[in-house]
Amino acid sequence: MKTMVFGKTGETVSRLGFGTMRLPLLKSQDGDKPKVDEQQAIEMIRSSIDGGLSYIDTAYIYHDEESELITGKALKDGYREKVLLTTKLPVWLVDNEKQMDEFLDEQLKKLDVPYVDFYLLHSLDLDSYHKIRSLNYKAFYERAIKDGRIRFPGFSFHDDYNAFIEIINDFDWCMAQIQFNYLDDQYQATVEGLKYAGQKKIPVVVMEPLRGGALANPPNEIIDMIESHPRGYSPVEWAFRYVADFPEVVCILSGMSNQSQVDDNMRIFASLEPNNLSDEDKKFVSKLKEAYENRIAVPCTDCKYCQPCPQGVNITRIFSIYNDAYRFDDINRLKNRYKAVVKDKQDVSYCVDCGACESVCPQGIGVMEILKTLDAKATTT
Ligand SMILES: NC(=O)c1ccc[n+]([C@@H]2O[C@H](COP(=O)([O-])OP(=O)(O)OC[C@H]3O[C@@H](n4cnc5c(N)ncnc54)[C@H](OP(=O)(O)O)[C@@H]3O)[C@@H](O)[C@H]2O)c1
Repeated sequence: MKTMVFGKTGETVSRLGFGTMRLPLLKSQDGDKPKVDEQQAIEMIRSSIDGGLSYIDTAYIYHDEESELITGKALKDGYREKVLLTTKLPVWLVDNEKQMDEFLDEQLKKLDVPYVDFYLLHSLDLDSYHKIRSLNYKAFYERAIKDGRIRFPGFSFHDDYNAFIEIINDFDWCMAQIQFNYLDDQYQATVEGLKYAGQKKIPVVVMEPLRGGALANPPNEIIDMIESHPRGYSPVEWAFRYVADFPEVVCILSGMSNQSQVDDNMRIFASLEPNNLSDEDKKFVSKLKEAYENRIAVPCTDCKYCQPCPQGVNITRIFSIYNDAYRFDDINRLKNRYKAVVKDKQDVSYCVDCGACESVCPQGIGVMEILKTLDAKATTT
């Protein structure tokens, strides 16, 4: 397992980290929400640590607040000492300064540890950052680091580049966690944000390197491109190699869901150094990205001329969901995300064929017919 030095913490960390947000699940009983397969999860976490993985990422909310409990159990029997352990403050649930201490104490209890190595402000955007700053998170960190409950402060991030720069410049962070993969290099913090963190010597931990698993299962034409490449890497290996190529990235989290994924990822990370891709390799990854981006079901540019629809149908939201699902050839993705549109009463069932959308669409899209086809696909069981 390749390792790197974790910036100013001076710690050494494996380049593969275990994200405990997608642990294996038991079969659902009577339609109930499936529970985590605790025994398998513990075995997987321990086998990765036995193989040299040394970074574990959990959070208050993962798996309906069970993830920290299971992580704590996995780290018994001498495993805690072998890893850097991260958990996160659910910023959106915090209304006053005292609650930050209360959450941390509850989380340490659930993990059954006296301290965590990294404690992150979870899922920051600019608004939640301003809120938590006004609640004096800096004093909280000072206190918790002094009394030994936290070693290093950090944040995880889901907003745009400007927000990332504002947040990263506002505190003496030891790490930042961002969403990054070869499709998302211009999304959220972006590659420029990643490089900025590097210039400031703030190590970056990457989440969603496989875009939540989508990059592991490409559509057929992308599989053909990958299979005919002489390197012989799998779709997963190309995606990890892309992220690991950046020297600013110290650790890449994977939410592994079964033992064979653990084994596969451990094998890939046995040789993943920064700057591992040749110029030719980089061109190939750009071609993969282009091939995904060219998979467009509806040529909607999100100009929103068609909105507001007099009946409240959220046309651009629906098209964006459709294009995203089509990109990955993933009908379940469409169905799941469309359910939220139905819940918000913005779905196609409200369309009365007035045609107001089509009369203003600069792309000349046959909006109504496409919406109906899409609605049928998304709602068929
Ligand atoms: N702080 C935040 O706001 C935040 C947000 C998101 C994530 N995170 C953290 O970051 C971690 C990583 O993100 P992620 O879980 O989205 O990572 P990811 O690597 O993009 O996606 C994980 C999924 O990829 C698939 N996968 C992984 N290894 C594979 C392999 N070798 N072969 C085939 N498929 C493979 C699995 O999907 P299937 O189960 O479908 O097979 C797995 O569930 C999370 O677990 C969590 O700890 C934090």
